[in-house]
Amino acid sequence: MNKFDSDMNLPKHVKLVEVGPRDGLQDEKKILSVTKRIEFINKLAHCGYKNIEVGSFVSKSAVPQMHHSDEVLNQLDRNTAVKYSALVPNIKGLTTALSTHVDAIAIFMAASESFSKNNTNCSIQESIQRYSEVIHIAKQHNIPVRGYLSCIFSCPYEGNIQEEIVVEHAIKLHSLGCYEIALGDTTGLGTPRKIQSLIKTLSKHIPIEKIAFHLHNTNGLAMVNIYSALCLGVATFDCSIAGLGGCPFAKNATGNVASEDLVYLLNSLEIFTGIDLNYLVETSKYICNLLEHPSNSNITNIYEQIQLQ
Ligand code: HMG
Ligand code: MG
Repeated sequence: MNKFDSDMNLPKHVKLVEVGPRDGLQDEKKILSVTKRIEFINKLAHCGYKNIEVGSFVSKSAVPQMHHSDEVLNQLDRNTAVKYSALVPNIKGLTTALSTHVDAIAIFMAASESFSKNNTNCSIQESIQRYSEVIHIAKQHNIPVRGYLSCIFSCPYEGNIQEEIVVEHAIKLHSLGCYEIALGDTTGLGTPRKIQSLIKTLSKHIPIEKIAFHLHNTNGLAMVNIYSALCLGVATFDCSIAGLGGCPFAKNATGNVASEDLVYLLNSLEIFTGIDLNYLVETSKYICNLLEHPSNSNITNIYEQIQLQ
């Protein structure tokens, strides 16, 4: 078969971080029990993921859906091939995280002052101080720390965010010792040109292997944005089964790119993910059934048709 021209430099393997149990469930009206959350995560592990974000150690009044994430982490069927991670906003969250079998934690700062204040009740500068301490202690316990940077293109409260601000904060997260910088398009309004411009600038300061994208799909361009990042060598992406989720502090944003749609694209490009698409689609139907709403994944919704081809 002829190769598609711009495929020439695509990575051979891509690392997918499944964020459905955290970014997905945190924005659902229906709050799932610990038992159901565990069942969901166990099914995701069975799909072949090596990285699953399973919850967050945040205030229960801020995000009630994530309450009891410690029980989720301690009671799930541990698959040794999988790294189970969770969000940590401060020392209190870290203390709870350290009481669990968490494999990695993720801190989350923002490139917008208003989002920082609304999401974590502190300024960007205060969050850097908090996270420096969190990272220091996590390292003493050999817990790797991933660093999210939200609002890389726009903020739900302030609008457009300048690229140089994003680059400055991403470099800061890297210098604090985060093993990976997850660039969050929180509002889901990014475009291929913005994605590629950010990668070109940031990769002068941070190795490309440490750059990941966490793309909400509000404008429907997350998949095209991922393709434009793949073409520049980025090989780590977050995804959410059934396209679940959003952020309680970014009201109009939809969920991350649907995992099934992304795996289907990567399969078509012969890029290895290790994910079983059949079981992923089955798991997507299972979780949507539990949450009592249809899937946001095009692939899940037409899967029978695809299989006939
Ligand atoms: P605060 O009010 O400043 O904290 O909240 P505080 O220290 O003043 O404490 C207030 C209360 O919260 C106290 O409880 C604390 O014990 C409790 P009370 O005495 O009133 O009963 N508390 C905690 N409880 C559990 N775990 C903790 C914790 N810390 C304090 N770690 C805080 C600060 C950050 C905790 C709060 O604002 C919060 O929980 N915010 C929620 C943040 C969140 O989960 N946002 C969604 C995830 S981020 C996201 O979706 C973006 C991302 O996907 C990337 C992208 O898309 O861009 C990552
Ligand atoms: Mg998010």
